[in-house]
Amino acid sequence: MHSIFSGCALAALLLAAAWADHQLSSPNADFAFALYKSLNAKTSAGQNVFYSPLGVSTLLSMISTGARGKTHSQLLSSLGFGALNQTQVNEAYKHLLDILGHGRGNFQLDVGNVAAFRSGFNPLEKFLTDIKHFYTSEIFTVNLNNPTKAAAEINRFVTNKTRDKVKDVVKDLDPDTVMVLINYAYFKGMWKNPFDCSFTQKTDFHLDKTNQVEVDMMMRAGSYKTYWDRENKTTVVMLPYEGKTSMMIVLPEEDKMEEVEGSINKDSIRHWRNSLYMNYVTLYLPKFSISADAVLESTLREMGITNAFEDKADFSGVSEELKLKISKVSHQAALSVTEMGTEAAAVSTKEWMYFSASPSIKINRPFLVFILESSTGSILFMGKINNPPALPEAQICEEEFTPFPDT
Ligand SMILES: *[C@@H]1O[C@H](CO)[C@@H](O)[C@H](O)[C@H]1NC(C)=O
Ligand SMILES: *[C@@H]1O[C@H](CO)[C@@H](O)[C@H](O)[C@H]1NC(C)=O
Ligand SMILES: *[C@@H]1O[C@H](CO)[C@@H](O)[C@H](O)[C@H]1NC(C)=O
Repeated sequence: MHSIFSGCALAALLLAAAWADHQLSSPNADFAFALYKSLNAKTSAGQNVFYSPLGVSTLLSMISTGARGKTHSQLLSSLGFGALNQTQVNEAYKHLLDILGHGRGNFQLDVGNVAAFRSGFNPLEKFLTDIKHFYTSEIFTVNLNNPTKAAAEINRFVTNKTRDKVKDVVKDLDPDTVMVLINYAYFKGMWKNPFDCSFTQKTDFHLDKTNQVEVDMMMRAGSYKTYWDRENKTTVVMLPYEGKTSMMIVLPEEDKMEEVEGSINKDSIRHWRNSLYMNYVTLYLPKFSISADAVLESTLREMGITNAFEDKADFSGVSEELKLKISKVSHQAALSVTEMGTEAAAVSTKEWMYFSASPSIKINRPFLVFILESSTGSILFMGKINNPPALPEAQICEEEFTPFPDT
């Protein structure tokens, strides 16, 4: 027994020490929260917000390799990379994306960028090789004279690339479209500690004081890193996935969402990460699946990226022959939260019997969700779940991980 406990303590220490910050993690986290502010302000009350800040910043860094002059400096400074040059940004991304790629097998993270251009011109060779080498991104040329057909063609390309996970990312194009940038990010992880399907029950989720919806509420009693931050009116709980990713749930007290989301920033995440400690709790978490589209032009303009969208844009590093500007930036992010994990869920039954008297954490009202990667300190995804969307079809409970077929 003793050795089991010291083993746990050691594992906890190692886990804590494993948070390392990549060169880009601090600017990327600031960018993530700036994006949240703007997206949240455009979201009507009661709606969900969900996106991949890492996906969006990767896309913008990728296109900045072809930007020059003020177009370029606005991109880099809005991303928080004002102190770096493009070569440093490219290399830092290559490093970051390589590390994230190594987690494959344990979890599936698909982050992809596609740039679609009006056909009939040749992008510069250096641009093509750079974005492929540093960002594993692809270029797609399409006949934009027929916008409806072009949108369908771009969507078919993205759907095929993502093996049907991302559909209809481009909704409409207008005839003077020149360059469309698309980023998609999709995550499927398996819990280190899966939920037992037989404990999942229909329960109310409280949208606000007076309204509720019925959700499939999963339940598991076990050890979770938790933190009750009474001063900041929130409970934080960390759910580890296999590999180096975790879901951090931030559950504000009733009616305190606005207050919490108004003050949250990268330092809050760091503070919570460092304050968490292991507890036996009974955790109730709704099963949900979210896929969200964001059209980012106005958001990015608010963040200071203006030239790139205007006639004065300078993308002479993409093409010297054609005057380019960004017409559209589309982003799609998707995440499913189910019972599934690696080990037999029966373990939780045993823990349940031991710890049925443990404090309970019920994620039964609006919460914030973060998917964090510990070896780079990256925020892969973040969002606010006001109303957890049910999984697309009535699914049989899935405890086992079925990875997507390999690319
Ligand atoms: C970028 O910065 C690094 C480090 O200061 C420097 O070695 C390199 O020459 C710079 N590259 C360019 C293209 O300016
Ligand atoms: C879909 O992708 C596969 C392999 O990546 C490719 O061979 C095929 O031509 C693509 N289909 C379409 C319709 O783009
Ligand atoms: C509340 O949040 C602030 C800012 O992140 C932090 O400095 C403070 O320690 C937090 N309070 C507690 C009790 O954790």
